[in-house]
Amino acid sequence: MVTAQVIGESDIVALACDHGGLALKAVLKATLEESGRSVLDLGTHDGSSVDYPVYAARMAEALSNGDAACGILICGTGIGISIAANRYPHIRAALVHDAFGARLCRQHNDANVLVFGGRTTGEEIAKDCLRLFLETPFEGGRHQRRVDMLASK
Ligand code: RB5
Repeated sequence: MVTAQVIGESDIVALACDHGGLALKAVLKATLEESGRSVLDLGTHDGSSVDYPVYAARMAEALSNGDAACGILICGTGIGISIAANRYPHIRAALVHDAFGARLCRQHNDANVLVFGGRTTGEEIAKDCLRLFLETPFEGGRHQRRVDMLASK
């Protein structure tokens, strides 16, 4: 399994959401672009009702192709899209609700996809979580062993 010690400043960040995450995706995309990050927007692009597994699959494909180094997924609660994303062996998707989770999912889990609930997490908290996700390195060591155990399933 490929693990990233840090998410580099030049790495492309992919974003994908269903209709429940559309508004928060727009906010986070703008935040990333304002900070000079390159983004890959995998949709959805309007408010029509869509199916979150489709967007988790797009994220899985983008990461396996190397089109992006990490990603952000958003659905209404973040639950459905994180369940869908974690069915792909190369994805470690972390649904977070606060800064502590955003930091620890990098330090301990080497999460490569950050997940939010667009209907459950406010913009400012999500922006704070995103910053921590991008800035926090994976600690490796005993955590590497555990991440490797995920890959051997
Ligand atoms: C869509 O209405 C909603 O079910 C979806 O965004 C998500 O919350 C599912 O887990």
